[in-house]
Amino acid sequence: MTSLIHRSQFPLLAAAPELVYLDSAATSQKPRAVLDAVRDFYENDYANPHRGAYELSVRATTRYHAARERVASFLGVRDADCVIFTRGTTEALNLVAGAWGRANVNAGDEVVVTGAEHHANFVPWQQLALERGARFRICEIESDGTVDLDRLRALLSPRTKVVAFAHVSNVLGTIAPVREMAELAHRVGALAVCDGAQGAPHLRVRFDEMGVDVYAASGHKMLGPMGIGVLAARRELLERMPPFLMGGDMIEFVEDDHSTWNVLPHKFEAGTPNAAGAVGLAAAVDVLEGVGMDAVRAHEHALVASAYDRLSAIDGVHIHGPGADARGGVLSFTVGDVHPHDLATILDTRHVCIRAGHHCAQPLMRRLGVSATARASFYVYNDASDVDALAGGIVAAKELFGSVAV
Ligand code: ALA
Repeated sequence: MTSLIHRSQFPLLAAAPELVYLDSAATSQKPRAVLDAVRDFYENDYANPHRGAYELSVRATTRYHAARERVASFLGVRDADCVIFTRGTTEALNLVAGAWGRANVNAGDEVVVTGAEHHANFVPWQQLALERGARFRICEIESDGTVDLDRLRALLSPRTKVVAFAHVSNVLGTIAPVREMAELAHRVGALAVCDGAQGAPHLRVRFDEMGVDVYAASGHKMLGPMGIGVLAARRELLERMPPFLMGGDMIEFVEDDHSTWNVLPHKFEAGTPNAAGAVGLAAAVDVLEGVGMDAVRAHEHALVASAYDRLSAIDGVHIHGPGADARGGVLSFTVGDVHPHDLATILDTRHVCIRAGHHCAQPLMRRLGVSATARASFYVYNDASDVDALAGGIVAAKELFGSVAV
């Protein structure tokens, strides 16, 4: 199996042919087209958007707006003003918990998350509940890492104000039944918030048809630059929601005793925007759509299925989460009693980059009964030789540890 986009398109990978990069769930490598777009913006159209009447600032504004339209169309959001640029998924989720949550969640209400959430979609809701005197409820995951819809249904009531869940688990790779979970949330009048950090880079997202009220994603995990992300939400929600950060472009009028807010999307984009990041993200989206998101999904599925088979055949390897068909391009595993950090260090000596640790999901680690896992994650530039290198590295690590209990 060859890569979907050749590694020669990625300067870092092209310069290091020995590198086996299997940590795209943490961050993806950058194609030349994205680096060129960012550089071109700085070299040719750089000024502060929305700030100047002069032609250069107008050009910067035009490119920033074009990036928003491009990203909105990629995510299936017809109304581009409902795409807010943030620093990333974490900021987008904090924005909703902070602004919408404080205005709408009160004592006696309930806030629901799943037991598999990344801290960014767990802690803001937990802290909101603590602050507002609401009840924080966790929908336990099944032994294979999936969410059981009956279990979720049983947890919801008219007191539920929000149901927050990941599109794809960053640890287990489990793909959530987004539409069904959103429908259950809506049946009790709750908001459906979807953490798309591991979804948007890998699956075709049609926000307008998915049923969720909020979808958040990070540019750097989908070939784009760090420091740019997206909050997509329904217009009426954004219009009713108070702003989160104050100052700069989110202002309409400031009187001595009160202020009023700019229209969408500006109301939620205080301060100078990351226009270069947005331009880079738009270029990343072009690259992904150049191959097609269905092809991205098929490629990752083939790689993860092959890695799943190869690793399952190694004595002592335990893969956490569902079978290959129910997951994205992520594989978390443990190898006997070899500590995942030791495993990652040994793999690194063979130029294989994987992540080890709790993956910002300590509640999930507790539910899995481990303190850490090793995680390999695949993307468009990976191929069959990367799976070989991973499997070979694990076998070598096992030999090194010799006496390891498996
Ligand atoms: N959230 C990122 C990960 O899962 C950093 O690795």
